Amino acid sequence: MPNAKLNRHTKGYGCWLRYADYISCDNKAATEYEKFFSAIVLKGHGRVIRTAANELVRAAKEMFGTDAPVLPAKPDSTHITLRLDGELLDTLGPEGFEIRVHAGGNEIEIAGADENGVLYGVFELLFGIGLGKSISQAEVSRSRSVEMRMIEHWDNMSGDIERGYAGKSIFFKDNNITTDYDRIRDYARLLASVSVNGISINNVNVHKQETFLITEKYLPQIAELAGIFSDYGIKLFLSINFAAPVEIDGLDTADPLDEGVIRWWEETAGKIYAHIPDFGGFLVKADSENRPGPFTYRRDHSQGANMLARALRPYGGLVIWRCFVYDCHLDWRDRAVDRARAAYDNFKPLDGKFDENVVLQIKNGPMDFQIREPVSPLFGALPKTNVAVEFQITQEYTGQQKHLCYLVPMWKETLDFDTFTKGEGSTVSRVVDGSLFGLKHGGMAGVSNVGDDNNWCGHPLAQANLFGFGRLAWNTALSSEDIARQWVALTFGHNAPIMETLVPMLLDSREIYEMYTAPLGVGWMVKPGFHYGPDVDGYEYSQWGTYHYADRSCIGVDRTQATGTGFTSQYHEPVAGMYENIETCPDELLLFFHHVSYEHVLKSGKTVIAHIYDTHFEGAERAKELLDKWKTLKELVSDDIYDEALRRFEHQVESAAEWRDVINTYFYRKTGIDDIHNRKIYR
Ligand code: GCU
Repeated sequence: MPNAKLNRHTKGYGCWLRYADYISCDNKAATEYEKFFSAIVLKGHGRVIRTAANELVRAAKEMFGTDAPVLPAKPDSTHITLRLDGELLDTLGPEGFEIRVHAGGNEIEIAGADENGVLYGVFELLFGIGLGKSISQAEVSRSRSVEMRMIEHWDNMSGDIERGYAGKSIFFKDNNITTDYDRIRDYARLLASVSVNGISINNVNVHKQETFLITEKYLPQIAELAGIFSDYGIKLFLSINFAAPVEIDGLDTADPLDEGVIRWWEETAGKIYAHIPDFGGFLVKADSENRPGPFTYRRDHSQGANMLARALRPYGGLVIWRCFVYDCHLDWRDRAVDRARAAYDNFKPLDGKFDENVVLQIKNGPMDFQIREPVSPLFGALPKTNVAVEFQITQEYTGQQKHLCYLVPMWKETLDFDTFTKGEGSTVSRVVDGSLFGLKHGGMAGVSNVGDDNNWCGHPLAQANLFGFGRLAWNTALSSEDIARQWVALTFGHNAPIMETLVPMLLDSREIYEMYTAPLGVGWMVKPGFHYGPDVDGYEYSQWGTYHYADRSCIGVDRTQATGTGFTSQYHEPVAGMYENIETCPDELLLFFHHVSYEHVLKSGKTVIAHIYDTHFEGAERAKELLDKWKTLKELVSDDIYDEALRRFEHQVESAAEWRDVINTYFYRKTGIDDIHNRKIYR
């Protein structure tokens, strides 16, 4: 069921992998590589290394118009060799690779510690060409930062995507599994090019229909998809329903300690692996937002997760167990309860109880993917447990792919955050790469922003987030700016005005979005359900939690130990003290941690109310500047990309103005405090 509107030849569809665009008159270095693309020597067997060779063949054609043969042995002429080199496992670790240019300049050799390493080496070489690196800079040696680099889809079998802003699912339609394998292959290729090595294809909220994905009814078709991803070194995972034994086979319980249930999952695992020998494992949302889980049977999360893990263990599968567990039936009258505390309160006591093939997946912040949150304190709290960080690439709370919001800077902040668990330098990246506590597994997961829109992501510039997620997961040391520059160069070619315009637009976009939406870390203020557009009290006094407690004199949530919910105590010192103390709490998180007067003076020297007015006026202005800057690129980018983005920038300007006015008016009415600059605030 291909998408009728699909046009594979557009810029938007090709993303950063349109090799023909790598070669432009401004990219002088590219010509240095041409001679090597006359033949590809393949030393090694396997589906991924074969994919790597095919990718070079394709690149030779698209870049230089050459038909490069794939040969088993070296020819006399110049060539590129692909080789498995097991010794690299010791020096670079799994998936590592080296690119070498051999004496005499006749051969570029790409050696991988394993097949994935070879494939990533190929993309590194191709990206290098696209980025204008000369052959003298081609030699590199690379290791991965984190083991699991997962993309997680929240796709339903109906074809709808929960929190999807780029069309319908590319995997499912009308309760069927897609047979548009070309599109899936194109997607696998995109993901592999940024070294993603895992994908779960169905929503973590596993409804009735999707519960059956692990049965014979669907496994043959799932295996087709898994096979395509396997060609690209990507393992397929499925989200499962904890109550599946009851719902599929009518067992009278899903109790993880029940013998019948244990056997049911073992048999299910056997069936899955018979179809998909390299199946990745299960992703589980249990006892979260009304999903079933071990709590029903008075069991804890470790008992639930380990039962599944033992079923998968003989086959090398993993259980990725989400920590997004909180009470979504809160009583707002009780000021002591605090949703932010929940993940830590639930999982900290279980540290050390999870099996070796369980990975706990923790959202970056303690709440839910807001534009500004502190880092979840759970990252420093589980020294005996495999941990992955979950980011949201899809822009649920960050503009829904209608607003420009380049998220890599936010993810970098999380990864660079120092938990101080083992003293200074105990960063989140070291937690999720396993090195801090010497753990076996760990990684980075991103909730996908992809749908069946022709350009995959809805907003053409949201492709930068998909690209950035993969690049950062591979190398957490890359800077946001480096990643932005790479994406712009590979997507738009070597063009200085585009680079000079777009890179700052991307880098400023998160700050701009934050300015005109919820201030100072307070979060939310969105329309309930949709999570789009301003509604200051939308979630206030609701069962989901209360977020700002604004009254006529004060605003913010007191999460201190001294007088509040005690959330700050979940951090190690000195972080706990920094947030606890209003003097040292960073401005951007002030209202997350403290309930303060509107006249409270921030470190910036402004009062809270002045800050609110100023940032909202300025943010809306800066949204206009984004539009103006985009317009300067009209002649420089392809029409499909220009028009798609233009419509969105125009909408962003209107939406930002609405945010500005709703927020400013709300606080003017609450406080009665005038804007000292006398700007327009509706009464
Ligand atoms: C958010 C989101 C839900 C999603 C949930 C989750 O609350 O709004 O749609 O199911 O996160 O991460 O499980």
